[in-house]
Amino acid sequence: MAETDGCYGFLCFLGGCTALYFLLSWSWGCWKGFKSYLLSKIWQTDVRKFGQWAVVTGATAGIGLAYALELARRGLDVVLISRSGEKLRSVAKKIESQYGRQTRVIQADFSEGDSIYPAIAQQLKGLEIGVLVNNVGMTYAGKLVHFLDVPDPEQTITKVINCNILSVTQMSRLILPHMVERGKGLIINMSSETASQPQPLITVYSATKIFVTYFSRCLHAEYRSRGITVQCVSPFVVSTNMTYNIPVNPLVVSAASFARDALNTVGYSSFTSGCLTHALQHIALSIIFPAWLRLSPFCLRRMEKLAQNIKPLIEERVAQNYRKED
Ligand SMILES: NC(=O)c1ccc[n+]([C@@H]2O[C@H](COP(=O)([O-])OP(=O)(O)OC[C@H]3O[C@@H](n4cnc5c(N)ncnc54)[C@H](OP(=O)(O)O)[C@@H]3O)[C@@H](O)[C@H]2O)c1
Repeated sequence: MAETDGCYGFLCFLGGCTALYFLLSWSWGCWKGFKSYLLSKIWQTDVRKFGQWAVVTGATAGIGLAYALELARRGLDVVLISRSGEKLRSVAKKIESQYGRQTRVIQADFSEGDSIYPAIAQQLKGLEIGVLVNNVGMTYAGKLVHFLDVPDPEQTITKVINCNILSVTQMSRLILPHMVERGKGLIINMSSETASQPQPLITVYSATKIFVTYFSRCLHAEYRSRGITVQCVSPFVVSTNMTYNIPVNPLVVSAASFARDALNTVGYSSFTSGCLTHALQHIALSIIFPAWLRLSPFCLRRMEKLAQNIKPLIEERVAQNYRKED
């Protein structure tokens, strides 16, 4: 009898400890979310404290453009890097006239690989760079496909890796030493929700983004004691060219509001979904759509079917984007 009581008491103790553990970790998560996404709307980190200039890669459209404008609005001069000289000049003009900040433009194609970095280093020489936004990224132009069906795979795979992985590492290599010398700096790396769980049918993209996440979190651990913040931003869907300018709705945010909210989280979190709605979707999806389910043959078949169904819509949206750019 005494033995049964003892066993019962032990199980109650174990249950109590487990409940307490979940209660504490849930409360801690809620407090972190409250600070990052709500309190940060009132008290923001002054990004000017990191240095005079911000460098933004992929700065002429979408999230990169929104970051460039928001950083200028918050008082930083901005170096804009993208492929198209014409778009770069137009964004630079907008920043100068709207916010009275200085700009520099650097025309570079990050998909080309190693060869572009000496010229970028040369053009950044002498600038006090406080913020680096490693935003540039690409997927395979509107395709949800198996690895071997990636269009023009020899070229495309290398381009995606150069653009999504090499750019983040090489730009950090170029700019971090000067930040370390000055004992302050902020590096923001754009990962993706597709890195939170493996995502078939955009395999290379998903894999490059988990690289960005791990790189950022390790770099933050290595350099935070030297005054450097490395923040990894992991958005869900933002309405941009990459997402075929899908209309904004309660789940999909505009690039401008995303960049504003995400910049507010600087100083509160080194790994963030960027905004409250994306953080909630991240939590919901990790519960109802975990990795084992995503990778199951059943789910893969459903996703292949979905990809087939939405193919005409995506092709139409991609064509619209091209027409708009012309
Ligand atoms: N949109 C989303 O829902 C979402 C979700 C998760 C993560 N992300 C990530 O957020 C980042 C920005 O995405 P986005 O949706 O804003 O993309 P986007 O709308 O396609 O804009 C991409 C920007 O990068 C530039 N760019 C593209 N390829 C380039 C290259 N090879 N070299 C230099 N510049 C290049 C483009 O300008 P030019 O064409 O003039 O070069 C443009 O300024 C990416 O890293 C993406 O993976 C986006």
